[in-house]
Amino acid sequence: MADPKACNKKLEGKVAIITGGASGIGEATVHLFVDHGARAIVVADIQDEKGEELAASIRFRCTCTYVHCDVTKEQDVELLVQSTIQLFGRLDIMFCNAGIMSKSLQTILDFDLLLFERLFAINVGGVAAGIKHAGRAMVKANTKGSIICTASIAASVGSDRHTDYVMSKNAVLALMRCASTQLGPHGIRVNCVSPGPVATPLLCEAFGMGAEDVERSFARMYWLKNNGVLKVKHVADAVQFLASEESQFITGHNLVVDGGFHPSAP
Ligand SMILES: NC(=O)c1ccc[n+]([C@@H]2O[C@H](COP(=O)([O-])OP(=O)(O)OC[C@H]3O[C@@H](n4cnc5c(N)ncnc54)[C@H](O)[C@@H]3O)[C@@H](O)[C@H]2O)c1
Repeated sequence: MADPKACNKKLEGKVAIITGGASGIGEATVHLFVDHGARAIVVADIQDEKGEELAASIRFRCTCTYVHCDVTKEQDVELLVQSTIQLFGRLDIMFCNAGIMSKSLQTILDFDLLLFERLFAINVGGVAAGIKHAGRAMVKANTKGSIICTASIAASVGSDRHTDYVMSKNAVLALMRCASTQLGPHGIRVNCVSPGPVATPLLCEAFGMGAEDVERSFARMYWLKNNGVLKVKHVADAVQFLASEESQFITGHNLVVDGGFHPSAP
C-alpha cells in the first residue's frame, strides 16, 4: 500500500540551493523543503554561525550543507553552484532569496547613492548571478529545473521611503521575466514570490521594532480577515509550490503572498 505521507512529499529527490537561507524566509523554506523530502539542501549565506547551526540541526533528516557565499561576488555564486553539482550530482531548484534594506529611509531628497549601489549589488546583482550560474548548470545537465526569486509587494507600489529597495524589487521582476523567456526553451522555469510585510530580522531592523510589534502594526491591514498575520511559512509554501512539479507549466509569474495587504483595508 502507498505510504500516505509520501504523497505529501512534493520535492522528493530534489537538490536545492537557497541563498539568504540562514534567516527569515530562506530559513523557513529550508525547513519546508526538508519536510517535502528534498534529497539535499545547500544553505548559502554570509551569516556563517547561523547557517552552520541550521544545517547541523536538520542533518539527521536530510543532507544539508552550509556554504559561505556573498552573492555580490560572482565567483562565490559560481563556486556555490559548482560545489553543489560536485557534491550532489545535480541542481534542481535555485531559490535566489538573499536581500537587504538600506539602513536609512532613502527618500529621493536624501538619496544615498553608495547605499543604493550596495543594495543593488545584493538585491539585483546577486539574483542575476544566481540565475546565471544555476541556469548554466541546468542547461548543461539538461535539467528541467525551477528558479525562484524573492521580489516584494513593494515592486508594485510607490512608497514614501526605501526608494532603492522598491527600485531593486522592480528590477528583480524584470530580471525574472527576461530569464524566464530566455531559459524557457531549455525547459527551465523562472518565477518570483512577492511577500507582503513579514516580521523577519530584515523588516524588524528597518522598522526598529521587535517581531510582535511589527506584526501588531500590520495586523489590521489585510483584506483577508481571521487568518492571522503573514508568517514566513506562508511565503515558504508559495516557494515550495513554485519549486515542485505542481507548478510545472508556470513560468514568468509573480506569485504575491500578502493576504490582500493594503493600508486602507477595513
Ligand atoms: N520581510 C519582509 O517583509 C519581506 C517582504 C518582501 C520581500 N522580502 C525579501 O525576502 C528576502 C529574504 O529576506 P527576509 O525578510 O527573510 O530577511 P532576513 O534578514 O531574515 O534574511 C535575509 C538573509 O539574506 C542574507 N544576506 C544578506 N546579504 C547577503 C549577501 N551579500 N550574500 C548572501 N546572503 C546575504 C542575510 O544574511 C540573511 O540571512 C529578501 O530578498 C527580502 O527583500 C522580505
